Amino acid sequence: MQPTIQVLEELAREAGKILRAGYEQEHEIRYKGVIDLVTEVDHQSEAYLIDEIRKRYPGHKILAEESGVTSGSQDSVWIIDPLDGTVNYAHQIPIFTVSIGYSAMGRMSLGVVYDPMRDELYGAERNAGSFMNGKRIHSSEAIDLKKSLLVTGFPYDAWDTEYDNFGNYVRFAKQSQGVRRLGSAALDCCYVAAGRFDGFWELQLNPWDVAAGGLIAEESGAKVTNVRGKADYLSAPQSIIACAPGIYEQMLKVLNTPVDEKAQGG
Ligand code: IPD
Ligand code: CA
Ligand code: CA
Repeated sequence: MQPTIQVLEELAREAGKILRAGYEQEHEIRYKGVIDLVTEVDHQSEAYLIDEIRKRYPGHKILAEESGVTSGSQDSVWIIDPLDGTVNYAHQIPIFTVSIGYSAMGRMSLGVVYDPMRDELYGAERNAGSFMNGKRIHSSEAIDLKKSLLVTGFPYDAWDTEYDNFGNYVRFAKQSQGVRRLGSAALDCCYVAAGRFDGFWELQLNPWDVAAGGLIAEESGAKVTNVRGKADYLSAPQSIIACAPGIYEQMLKVLNTPVDEKAQGG
């Protein structure tokens, strides 16, 4: 049995309640890397989601950030980030989301991203458009990179990797209205879908960061590919551009112009 978008919305709202309830408490922080951390609330949110999905759809496969793969049918796959924006969350910066994507027969077909602090629920169903709190949303009509507001993010191993994205940041900062860094890749995609940002790019992501947000951006009319221009932005080595179609070629050019350091991750 396939889930409906309403099921994903219900699960995202419930997980969002868990994030809201834990927001002001002191956290048990564990470091997965030097600057990559996880809190007890990431685990609570993920446990809730996995439990509900297992109960309702026992044969489905689940890929979730903190527990990895829960085996099931390859034709029905849930891709979950129980808390996207953990560093913000741990610092009590109210910018974080729950991200739930569902892939049917190898293709993303449903995606929901919930921002519990603003009570903004973004969702998309393949070929049926994107919505925020029930209202249709569209990517911006930007055509000039110089007048475009962009957003990006950086990987947790930015101190050590050659794909640190810093060079791209500098180039875009000098060729656009500005570049923000919100700290939730899922929300970055949704803000492109809502036309708040004109474009988003990032290197070295994981499928759970953008499985739902990428579909929401696509369905809003945004152009979404990896930074090499390939349609598959969920397979490794993973990277993404999600932007207004009118600035896509300009963004792709910036990301693919050879410079004095490595610019690409995919
Ligand atoms: C991170 C956020 C951030 C992005 C990182 C992600 P997490 O996810 O989406 O915006 O720059 O690459 O890993 O760790 O908060 O779930
Ligand atoms: Ca994430
Ligand atoms: Ca996460």
